[in-house]
Amino acid sequence: MASLATPMALRVAVTLGLPDRLRDTDAAVDRLAEDLGVAPVPLGLLLAHLTSLGFFERTAAGYRTTEFGENLCGDSLTTVLLNLDTAGGRAELAFTELLHSVTTGQAGYDRRYGRGFWSDLAAHPPLRESFDRQMAHRLRAGVPHLATGYDWSRFATIVDIGGGPGTVLAGILAAHPPVRGRLVDLDVTMAVATFAAHELGDRASAAAGSFFDPLPAGADAYLLVDILHDWDDEHAHRILARCVEAAAPDGRIVVVEPVGGRQAATDADLAMLVIFGGRERRVEEFEALAAEHGLVLESVTDAGGRSVLEFRFG
Ligand SMILES: C[S@@+](CC[C@H](N)C(=O)[O-])C[C@H]1O[C@@H](n2cnc3c(N)ncnc32)[C@H](O)[C@@H]1O
Repeated sequence: MASLATPMALRVAVTLGLPDRLRDTDAAVDRLAEDLGVAPVPLGLLLAHLTSLGFFERTAAGYRTTEFGENLCGDSLTTVLLNLDTAGGRAELAFTELLHSVTTGQAGYDRRYGRGFWSDLAAHPPLRESFDRQMAHRLRAGVPHLATGYDWSRFATIVDIGGGPGTVLAGILAAHPPVRGRLVDLDVTMAVATFAAHELGDRASAAAGSFFDPLPAGADAYLLVDILHDWDDEHAHRILARCVEAAAPDGRIVVVEPVGGRQAATDADLAMLVIFGGRERRVEEFEALAAEHGLVLESVTDAGGRSVLEFRFG
């Protein structure tokens, strides 16, 4: 469990596209190395190790992907996270700075790459695009449950704060035709395309902006899906303060996350730490954060693999 050789070998194989390349036709190492522009002897070492683990098999001509190795083919969430060229795959390497994060409580990502995750995405549009695709992918199965497992139809207007690719808001609006939504994020390119694909017309709009700045005012609900776990308490307070400042007097702040002690996995908790300096909070931790803004917890509803925490003004 401790050696880094296999986790890194899998990542390099997926990044080079070896499982897909060797899925239907076997190939010799020299030929593969030439096609991929890599050194033949090290490529042979990589394939030999992954063959010893059953991902590839030797053939008369060279190597071929096994049935087990087909788990590494295509663009599942697993392969996206193994690909070092995607935002998610790149972020996983922040784990090399886990000691720094455990020692200081700070993100390892910033130390490894010289700037924070969101700044990095802003500087590399292909990374941003891969991240939005990952975000859409991870909730593909969960959005219908999220859209119907909680009563969104009570709200005339919802502002989705840090709504990313727009898949959550589009799912909610599609399931509840009277509701209107507005999405705010640093980059809304994919959200605009998502809303158009769902033919939501003027019921959905997106605006580029930061949730550390004033938000669209007067909405009935301010939605934060997987936002607060990306931030330490100081930043989480700043985000909540912007929501509270913008909300209508009887408005709601709705936090949707894998909650500590409920859905959150311990490895995801460590990932939030090393990538963002954040964590998966428990219900009582959210209550304590919200209380400082005059908010009380109204309800907790489990839907779509997450908890929906509804806060109202006390
Ligand atoms: C984990 S993603 C969640 C996206 C979306 N809520 C979802 O569940 O699919 C976090 C989002 O926060 C956005 N974000 C980060 N910093 C932001 C800021 N200062 N202002 C607005 N959005 C921000 C990112 O761009 C990203 O889309």
